[in-house]
Amino acid sequence: MDPRPIGVFDSGLGGLTAVRQLRRVLPGEDIVYFGDTGRVPYGSRGRDIIVQYARQDIRFLLQQDVKFIIAACGTVSSTYPPEEAAKLPVPFTGVVGATARAAVDATRNKKVGIIGTAATVRSGSYAAVIRDMMPEVEIFARACPMFVPLVENGYFNDGNPVTKLIIAEYLQELKDAGVDTLILGCTHYPLLKKMIGDFMGGDVHLVDSGKVTAQAAAAALDDLGLLNGKTSGGTAKYFVSDTPDNFDELAHTFLGEYAGGTVERIAIETY
Ligand code: DGL
Repeated sequence: MDPRPIGVFDSGLGGLTAVRQLRRVLPGEDIVYFGDTGRVPYGSRGRDIIVQYARQDIRFLLQQDVKFIIAACGTVSSTYPPEEAAKLPVPFTGVVGATARAAVDATRNKKVGIIGTAATVRSGSYAAVIRDMMPEVEIFARACPMFVPLVENGYFNDGNPVTKLIIAEYLQELKDAGVDTLILGCTHYPLLKKMIGDFMGGDVHLVDSGKVTAQAAAAALDDLGLLNGKTSGGTAKYFVSDTPDNFDELAHTFLGEYAGGTVERIAIETY
């Protein structure tokens, strides 16, 4: 048993969709969340910058004495070198492995769609892991760079005409290709899940990367003997790199019914 908190980070607030799921499966665990709200988005940046930012985010969480780190960000998970992750003093997981597994388990016609940021799609991370598990799979990947700004600016109310138009623009080719499984390869996208589902049709299975990663992380913590043994009362502390002024409102949107926990601004560039 380990009483230390679980560390979760993302380029912004999208990773809170993973925290929401983590709280469902592990309600007794304490969580420290860092959202790099001052430097979001990562997904349109080059590899070196993303790796540098990820290193700083991880150093900050390690300083908070976390026992396990979850990169709740498709972009970081696709870019941060696995060899480096393996050398960290605590176990680390991104979102790609668990999400790929869930997609492989879900597909019936072996046509899988992947949507994510430009960096995630460029990296080919999901496609490589899925092909290892299912070599005969057909993969259709599409970067959706406007989804993150739409979500961060609150354009996710059901039926929003602007968002609807952009969803059709990005996803028509995946729909035409006949994918039966679509990976939401960015932790911001669950907020668009209803609208994406409406566009793709009820037969297409949507895989929420934050959700399946939270479930996989809970299982890993259990296997490693790292759970704290509590079944309720877990706390959350939030850290951001930009002003935390409207954090409460946004966090509520991402976290759903769970509200609470302190929020503090930190200077991430000093880590
Ligand atoms: N949450 C990030 C991801 O999952 C997207 C936001 C960004 O571009 O930084 O890829």
